[in-house]
Amino acid sequence: MVRLVSSGTEAVMTAIRLARGVTGRPKILKFEGCYHGHADALLVKGGSGVASLGLGDSAGITAGSIADTLVAPYNRVPDLDDSVACVIVEPVAANMGLVAPVEGFLDGLRAECDRVGALLVFDEVITGFRIAPNGSNSITEVRPDLYTFGKILGGGLPIGAIGGRQEILCELAPLGPVYQAGTLSGNPLATAAGLAVLDELEALGESGYEELSTRVAKLAAGLAGALGEQGIPIQVPTFHTLFSVFFSEVPVAEFQGAKAAAESGIYPQFFHSMLESGVAFAPGAYEASFMSFAHTNDDDNVTLEAASRAAEQIAASGLIRRA
Ligand SMILES: Cc1ncc(COP(=O)(O)O)c(C=O)c1O
Repeated sequence: MVRLVSSGTEAVMTAIRLARGVTGRPKILKFEGCYHGHADALLVKGGSGVASLGLGDSAGITAGSIADTLVAPYNRVPDLDDSVACVIVEPVAANMGLVAPVEGFLDGLRAECDRVGALLVFDEVITGFRIAPNGSNSITEVRPDLYTFGKILGGGLPIGAIGGRQEILCELAPLGPVYQAGTLSGNPLATAAGLAVLDELEALGESGYEELSTRVAKLAAGLAGALGEQGIPIQVPTFHTLFSVFFSEVPVAEFQGAKAAAESGIYPQFFHSMLESGVAFAPGAYEASFMSFAHTNDDDNVTLEAASRAAEQIAASGLIRRA
């Protein structure tokens, strides 16, 4: 069953309230470097812009509103107890750069949630319809109790969704006691745009996504080659249609590794050099990059040529010695 709302943030807020309402428990657990929107309780140790600005959370958030938020390192299964209503996780983390789940992480979360009776929430606002037509269902057999979606689902218009088993979703108002409402929830404009995009994605099918993933692997290898050739410490992890650029000697598996890479200070120079060549990467070291069906092979080539120029500039700047 699915409930439509108007943003990823709203979807997560409702999923959390639902988990608390269903279990009658107060605590939630999130992972360091994961971003789940801008609700107060979820900004603690968030990725994306919160990490870029070096904020642990944000001004304007009271101690009370985050008192029930627990935080654990990504890719390690935490010990839970029966105060925990739910664990929320990006099944593939894409707000601290790209950090894929290590083997056993998602299964371990499922088992630990089941052990203490907590719900597992997969936040698929980024991964949904992006890594594969079925999002995380295509990459793991682990099934969460609740999913949250946004972004692609609205085809560029504001939308979010909470999905899950019927007996859980039926606890939402007006059927159940967990309140949720929104003037623009399920509005015809956003849903029509979303349906049109989902139809197009369905037509492209698994093979369309596989083609994109193959191109991402090639682009990532090219980027790593261009930067590595100049002696720049570089990791370009990929996951299906996602990739990111870490200026690091070693692979990154959790937030502290992503932070060390960001603190090398190389990313801003890379970003500006690429921009001068007409290639706009995300303006923050903690963002992942996505290839879309609108990108062409020519775009890939232009990106690689730009990366070679950026690499030469970074090497000439002396930044690598400082890093
Ligand atoms: C994983 C994840 N969850 C939730 C959100 C919040 O979505 P929105 O910006 O639509 O509120 C984001 C936004 O980037 C996200 O990446």
